[in-house]
Amino acid sequence: MRAVFSRRYGTPDNLEIGEFPKPVVGPGELLIAVKAAGVAFHDGLQLAGKHQIKHDMPYVPGMEIAGTVAALGEGVEGPKVGTPVISINEGGGWGEFALVKESQVWPIPADVDFKAAAALGMAYTTAHCGIHWEGQVTAGDTVLITGATGAVGLAAVECAKALGARVIAVASSEERLAIATEHGADEGINYITCSLKEAVKELTNGEGVNVAFDPVMGSLFPDVLSSLAWGARHVIIGFAGGEIPKIPSNRLLVKNRRALGMVMSYYRYRQPHLMQQTVDTLLDWYQSGKIHPRIAVDGPLEKAPEYLNLIMDRKLIGRAILV
Ligand SMILES: NC(=O)c1ccc[n+]([C@@H]2O[C@H](COP(=O)([O-])OP(=O)(O)OC[C@H]3O[C@@H](n4cnc5c(N)ncnc54)[C@H](OP(=O)(O)O)[C@@H]3O)[C@@H](O)[C@H]2O)c1
Repeated sequence: MRAVFSRRYGTPDNLEIGEFPKPVVGPGELLIAVKAAGVAFHDGLQLAGKHQIKHDMPYVPGMEIAGTVAALGEGVEGPKVGTPVISINEGGGWGEFALVKESQVWPIPADVDFKAAAALGMAYTTAHCGIHWEGQVTAGDTVLITGATGAVGLAAVECAKALGARVIAVASSEERLAIATEHGADEGINYITCSLKEAVKELTNGEGVNVAFDPVMGSLFPDVLSSLAWGARHVIIGFAGGEIPKIPSNRLLVKNRRALGMVMSYYRYRQPHLMQQTVDTLLDWYQSGKIHPRIAVDGPLEKAPEYLNLIMDRKLIGRAILV
């Protein structure tokens, strides 16, 4: 089959495009004919060897997959061949076929566009699990979202709005904030031109936010921590900002704040019933027009290095999809 693959850890320029062995389906697995696959920050981290998921070389990247079932392994009863599905995998999405575990496949209605489905697969499930299950966001909450125009952050803006919250988006430019507003953010803070901490104070009459959804951490963390109200939840999603900050526990205690780690593998492997509810909710919101995945660019497998470079250089707003 044709695929994008890497023979070693490195940069997007190490990716090769060409013939790669088609996976052979085994017990408990399904083979997916890939129709769309996301290109994301986590793929860049994996390729650099900086992600918790490591690969034997050579490997095909791509965790976010939408396609149709092509074959069922021994002992797998469904979904039947031809069913449209989304899947989140450790990798393998950037090829014509991907091998996935039976537990990591969710059928989708036939009218859901495969490109949007790929984005729902990882960016939106991460956003929903962080906002709903961990952040327990409800109407009336004020939610601060860092990296609010990254793929996961923008999805979180839409999920928090769908649940009725007030959303304060944090981003590095006015252009980015305008896009967060298009997707439902009520207010925006440009942390390059003003103090994040002071801006939150002003917007919340000194109270702070009830929930922070944080895929950035890094140098923004001290201001995010200072912006948490009494009893607030800080949902830690990732470290796009580079640094992994230490959390001063006294700052949690003095206002009864909670810091919560959130990783999709917990929901995918250990809470399958919650994961199913998340997927069902997102498909319902997508079909009723409450969420609108932003596909920044889409193109053939040959585009993978270009798209991944754009993402790692912070030049893309929304998701990149290989089709
Ligand atoms: N917990 C989980 O299960 C899970 C699942 C998926 C992804 N993630 C993680 O979530 C994070 C965001 O993923 P994503 O796909 O949304 O990435 P993305 O599309 O590249 O967005 C990342 C955002 O972070 C901001 N940022 C701030 N400092 C940055 C820096 N030094 N380098 C790059 N970006 C920086 C950028 O916005 P501004 O320039 O406006 O600040 C950018 O929009 C990643 O760390 C990823 O690994 C976690």
